[in-house]
Amino acid sequence: MDVVLAGLARLEYRGYDSAGVAVLDGDAVRIDKRAGKLANLREEVAGHEESSSQVAIGHTRWATHGAPTDANAHPHRGGKHGELALVHNGIIENFAPLKAELVAEGYEFDSETDSEVAAHLVAREMTRLADEAGAEEGAAGADLTEAMRRVVSRLEGAFTLLAVDAAAPDRVVAARRNSPLVVGLGEGENFLGSDVAAFIDATKEALEVGQDQIVTVTPDDVAIIGFDGAPVTDAKRYTIEWDTTAAQKGGYPSFMAKEIHEQASAVADTLRGRMENGRLHLDEMKIDPALLRSIDKIVVVACGTAANAGSVVKYAIEHWCRIPVEVELAHEFRYRDPVVTEKTLVIAISQSGETMDTLMAVRHAKEQGAKVVAICNTRGSTIPRESDAALYLNVGPEIAVASTKAYLGQIGACYLLGLYLAQERGNFFPEEIAEIMHDLEGLPDKVQAVLDNAAQVEQLAHDMADATSVLFLGRHVGYPTAMEGALKLKEIAYIHAEGFAAGELKHGPIALVDEGQPVFIIVPSPRGRDSLHSKVVSNIQEIRARGARTMVIAEEGDTDVEPYADVVIRVPATRTLFAPLLTIIPLQIFACELATAKGLDVDQPRNLAKSVTVE
Ligand code: G6P
Repeated sequence: MDVVLAGLARLEYRGYDSAGVAVLDGDAVRIDKRAGKLANLREEVAGHEESSSQVAIGHTRWATHGAPTDANAHPHRGGKHGELALVHNGIIENFAPLKAELVAEGYEFDSETDSEVAAHLVAREMTRLADEAGAEEGAAGADLTEAMRRVVSRLEGAFTLLAVDAAAPDRVVAARRNSPLVVGLGEGENFLGSDVAAFIDATKEALEVGQDQIVTVTPDDVAIIGFDGAPVTDAKRYTIEWDTTAAQKGGYPSFMAKEIHEQASAVADTLRGRMENGRLHLDEMKIDPALLRSIDKIVVVACGTAANAGSVVKYAIEHWCRIPVEVELAHEFRYRDPVVTEKTLVIAISQSGETMDTLMAVRHAKEQGAKVVAICNTRGSTIPRESDAALYLNVGPEIAVASTKAYLGQIGACYLLGLYLAQERGNFFPEEIAEIMHDLEGLPDKVQAVLDNAAQVEQLAHDMADATSVLFLGRHVGYPTAMEGALKLKEIAYIHAEGFAAGELKHGPIALVDEGQPVFIIVPSPRGRDSLHSKVVSNIQEIRARGARTMVIAEEGDTDVEPYADVVIRVPATRTLFAPLLTIIPLQIFACELATAKGLDVDQPRNLAKSVTVE
């Protein structure tokens, strides 16, 4: 039980509407589940006597079908006598007809979830198998693996299912289609989890479970079969590189604060070891360079913060490679009829590698013949596995729901990809690449300089804790930075926040500005291209004239902004294209501090989950 609760605590960032555990207890299955965060479940089980069984499953939920109540929490009981317990991630799309079928047969439902259907279906197969074997209902002879196998062929949608049954007391049987599942290999103990964080305290050896596979885990054995029943012998084993301290707060008040302050080393880790003899090496880019030379369009697909990272790097990749880059929210891309050909390179950005919307976009792109490169943080996750090549961020596990260090890693990794494409396509002389890489490699120190200046923004956040609306403005790469700054504030501080292209201001958003309206403005370098800088300075004047309170993020030494700024937040000078790695940091700190000042749960904001594995 303790092992399962500890695992759930490390997975809670995936969803925290409710939590539950099931443990085998003699001939029965004991289930405890409670709405709300894991702490509620811990309270519930605190008084229970420890079961001698070594077999237990647990779940933290992000509600899809049915509100986050005790009854809708997982595990669900299956069978007319409740002898089976099952947890489910994903959505069973055809649950309604299946439920009708079970109700007609006398099965009773305790919840409104789609998942409970799977529990009863597996239990029904257990009964049927026992009957076929001539054994009494629920007696030995019933084969939980076969019962699961019979059920999965009837389910549509996305699912990872884990089941335990009193008739098969030494095992957990799991099945996966489209939702994540990994196995942890221990000594005399084995584990299952949605990701490796679930068991990283116990073992660093893991096994990938493929699409449409069923895994049966006992203390001493792990057996995998396909949904067709054929044994799987080539499951990939790997060693987890993350250490357990990465999953602890390390003295910070929240994981988000810790992850913000890790960003200098995160960027360094993303960029490390790529230059050799004046050339940029991306060994993971297992796509034929000839093909890379022939691509005529790049489409970036992603969601949330990852999409904002995509919008930042569009500017760099177009500038360096002279290839048109479209950035599209993965769910919008998937369900229109996008123009994707064999000459399209799709870049799928996903921290978790499990976001279902992004995964579906990847599959759609591949069906059209496009090559897909995944930009991902989580090794062994589904999106990089299904892509033609994968570039990892190497920023370590990100626990806070609101993404920070992974955002910087995503931008850094895409810069590498953009430069690599430019190199392979001959857009640059080698010394130009080396020069850009040199500047890129100088960024971690500059990131650290911004972090060292956190106190100013922290104070600002405390002063503004009562704000009800905050606007963010930027041009060029400052525009997606404004979007990301606004997203951070919405996500964790529940404040109405909007990011705009500063040039668009006069076409509508300026109507929002009145006396005292707080506005952050991201100012490009005065040494940058064209008249970008002066245009933004004019925009500051326009809103200042209408009463806005202006918080200006500007390069060190930029004195032009001073007359129009209520607050100036300084960042070190860098190339215009690299500024987003610096200018976002004060906005992350601002959101984190303001949410903390409001007494909110920074790491687990309401209604959100870190890894959204449903469409
Ligand atoms: C969720 C999270 C966001 C994240 C987005 C994409 O909505 O709450 O913080 O940016 O998913 O996640 P991914 O793992 O694909 O980068």
